[in-house]
Amino acid sequence: MIKKGIILSGGKGTRMSPLTKAVNKQLLPIYDKPLIFYPLSILMLAKIKDILIVVNKGQLDQYKKILPDGKNLGIKITYVEQDKPRGLPDAFILGEKFIGKQNVSLILGDNFFYGQFLTKKLQECVKLKKGAKVFLHRVSNPEKYGVAKVKKNKIFFIKEKPKKFISDLAITGLYFFDNSVVKYSKNLKPSKRGELEITDLLNFYRKKGKLSADLIGRGGAWLDTGSISDFYKTSNFVSAIENRQGFKIACLEEIAYLNKWINKKDINNSIKFYGNCEYSNYLRKLIY
Ligand code: G1P
Repeated sequence: MIKKGIILSGGKGTRMSPLTKAVNKQLLPIYDKPLIFYPLSILMLAKIKDILIVVNKGQLDQYKKILPDGKNLGIKITYVEQDKPRGLPDAFILGEKFIGKQNVSLILGDNFFYGQFLTKKLQECVKLKKGAKVFLHRVSNPEKYGVAKVKKNKIFFIKEKPKKFISDLAITGLYFFDNSVVKYSKNLKPSKRGELEITDLLNFYRKKGKLSADLIGRGGAWLDTGSISDFYKTSNFVSAIENRQGFKIACLEEIAYLNKWINKKDINNSIKFYGNCEYSNYLRKLIY
């Protein structure tokens, strides 16, 4: 069972400057919550309770204001600072002590996932014992992502941001790895863009026949939050669903409560913490 999860929430968010000059991108709003709530909710839906968040050096205080240590959610949140972005696999090097001898999941702080089947799939993925697992999703702009070529449910080719069309199956920013990931990450060499590449890491596993993939089909959504316009599109998506249904996406206390990690008293404490706002009204309805 994977019990540990890392959220890679560093990066300078330069494409979204000036918004990101004073505030980390993952703390900016996707509709009614900070972006980081969404990837955190995915780990919580996977029943992962021990979470390491990798943040930019100097931005720890911002995070701690909204996600201090996880106690209010019945989970454990710890932080590690990254002095500069060195690529996704750096999360496993920075997180070596946190990971210890266990298997681990990684989610990128700016990735948004939605779909009814997702919780079930996630709870299957955390059963991983050996190898690595990724989620693929069809996109209309594969040149922006790592992409995979698949035959009979097996990935046989991977490339990071291919200039020429190879496949429209993007590798999403949610990964499940066995413990060798730490060792493999340390052996990676930086790519031309000067970063360790997750696709190189996945290729290690693929060559050993230890990489499996699952598809987020057309009934699920994997949305981008890379640019300002993506932020608004994703916010609109959340707003449309939440206002239609009356359910919130990524309400962390709701997930913790339904997982029986917290009780009504804890929710009341959260209401006090958030103050008089729509999010608190939603929490109030949960415990009536
Ligand atoms: C990173 C990965 C890429 C993956 C993407 C998902 O891209 O390198 O393989 O498809 O995240 O969001 P980057 O954020 O570095 O552009």
